[in-house]
Amino acid sequence: MSDQTIDTLLDEERRFPPPPAFAAQANVHADVYDRPFEEFWEANGRERVSWFQPFGELCRWQPPYAQWYLGGKLNVAYNCVDRHVEAGLGDRVAYYWEGEPEGDRLTITYARLQRDVARMANVLGQLGVGKGTAVAIYMGMVPELPVAMLACARLGAPHTVVFGGFSADSLSDRMNDMGCEVLITQDEAWRRGGRVPLKRTADEAMAAAPGVRASVVVRRTGGEVPMTEGRDHWYHEVEASDDPATVPCAPMDSEDLLFLMYTSGTTAKPKGIVHTTAGYLVGVATTHWAIFDLKPESDVYWCAADIGWITGHSYIVYGPLCNAATSVLYEGTPDFPDKDRWWDIVERYGVTTLYTAPTAIRAHMKWGPEHAGRHDLSSLRLLGSVGEPINPEAWMWYHEHIGGERCPIVDTWWQTETGMVLITPLPGVTTTKPGSATKPFPGVRAAVLNEQGERVEQGGGYLVLERPWPAMTRGIYGDDERFRSTYWERFPGFYFAGDGARIDADGDFWLLGRVDDVMNVSGHRISTIEVESALVDHPKVAEAAVCGRSDATTGQAIVAYVTLKGNEGPSLEMLEELRNHVAHKIGAIAKPANIVFTPELPKTRSGKIMRRLLRDVAENRPLGDTTTLADASVVSELSQRAAEAP
Ligand code: WTA
Repeated sequence: MSDQTIDTLLDEERRFPPPPAFAAQANVHADVYDRPFEEFWEANGRERVSWFQPFGELCRWQPPYAQWYLGGKLNVAYNCVDRHVEAGLGDRVAYYWEGEPEGDRLTITYARLQRDVARMANVLGQLGVGKGTAVAIYMGMVPELPVAMLACARLGAPHTVVFGGFSADSLSDRMNDMGCEVLITQDEAWRRGGRVPLKRTADEAMAAAPGVRASVVVRRTGGEVPMTEGRDHWYHEVEASDDPATVPCAPMDSEDLLFLMYTSGTTAKPKGIVHTTAGYLVGVATTHWAIFDLKPESDVYWCAADIGWITGHSYIVYGPLCNAATSVLYEGTPDFPDKDRWWDIVERYGVTTLYTAPTAIRAHMKWGPEHAGRHDLSSLRLLGSVGEPINPEAWMWYHEHIGGERCPIVDTWWQTETGMVLITPLPGVTTTKPGSATKPFPGVRAAVLNEQGERVEQGGGYLVLERPWPAMTRGIYGDDERFRSTYWERFPGFYFAGDGARIDADGDFWLLGRVDDVMNVSGHRISTIEVESALVDHPKVAEAAVCGRSDATTGQAIVAYVTLKGNEGPSLEMLEELRNHVAHKIGAIAKPANIVFTPELPKTRSGKIMRRLLRDVAENRPLGDTTTLADASVVSELSQRAAEAP
């Protein structure tokens, strides 16, 4: 983000105090910020979650590792499903599932969810899955996806959900890293009327992941898929009881592994971010209840993310279900078959709370407000945003055209590693400003430090967290060294998030995007090195450098500078081949938007690629100091090529 944008942001003078009627009925009030940190998390630990055995010690902090709710025993699936049925809420809807093909709908009550989870757990049990067995899940947004996660949690089997848009290589890397023994997938997924061949990709991945001995395949589209005898099992063909009494909820220790979520860092290898049982559940349930002002008996809550990312884990599955909420689960995209699909869903289910990403809001802006205008959105009472900084224009559009100028907006900052939202307005309390995530959540302490590690009271710098919070990651799976060096070395004693931020005169936080080699494309984290490695993996590529440039819709877009080998000439075919190669290696989300072919990359005399300069070229900015370049003529040629690149 340029200095100019930062200044514009800080000039933002619009203020939106909470509407009095909203504030009057809100779950939390301003005094929540006065509660002592220990008391806040202790009370929420007891109130939001049911324990088989109560915890003793609240928090043990041995930097950089925290443990929470020590000595407690609980089960996440029990908390998300069974206890609600026991409390007489079996008829409450857990999910209104809306399939991508129009008219494909399912209403899933908590009682039905309990039976579905029991059945899936029994099927997994027959395949030898028990406490500690690692399970991979590679699915689209079908009801069986949360069911599979909860079934794992019921058995005490840690899972890793791999987003259905990822490639076979990405899937096998993750399964190998975690040591997965079983994979749950589906035949195909619907995507804009087309079919995504999940099982075929899973086959390719399993061929490269010898530890995976069995798969469970859910039928979704009914398309033909090859099944390997003895290894692959159709879910609907396995005989298994759906009686919850046949499969008890395993009592888990507070600090037992619940799941890994892989995310991009500054190297090519994704990190397996560790989340454990009690702290994670308390953290997501507490934030979900407070930030979304959840009224479980009357709200219809919709987080329009994909469960394949952390947002879906925390705020489609574990937080809302722990709170006995009614949610919408939607399989498709916002513009299929038409651009008003989301607004049709909001109207039909009477959605009260919508949680989405700035990139989606900007897409709707581009399509125009008339699509939302065709529907009755008066059920909405609260809006949320996550995944990247929201531009004030997008915030205002969301406020006017979706929120009808009456709904508070919560701009929530957090990460895969933090597990739960850390910086956010509280809708009945906070006066919001378009573009600011405002204040740390109660029980969370954030700060901005300068280059020297000194605290900045007002102004810009690096965002850090000052003390542990319940849902914080317990590390990178199998890589203590990388965990310490990535998050804890830059500012000793602080968790360094990798984001830039500013604090204004009111103490409000303005998030400014990543300060490292991680790009944020449509709210998805992609490392520049990951894309470079995929490009260099192509037999015709000699060298590649990748950076992000600003994009009006996706936030950032990927630009690749590529040097081809020997006498390979650049061509449009080559360009498509390389883009597809990246999609094949990582997934379609990592496809470069532009590829600039260049006979040489700008390098320093010591041979380091000058990335800052490449970013300037990509952004069409005046080029800074080029005196350290080994060959200055490379740059003028590069700028010209970039200007001409398709
Ligand atoms: C960015 C997604 C500004 C940030 C939950 C962070 C945001 C990264 C916001 C984490 C926000 C997320 N304002 N930036 N409200 N929310 N980010 O792990 O750069 O996929 O570090 O988690 O997204 O992305 P991740």
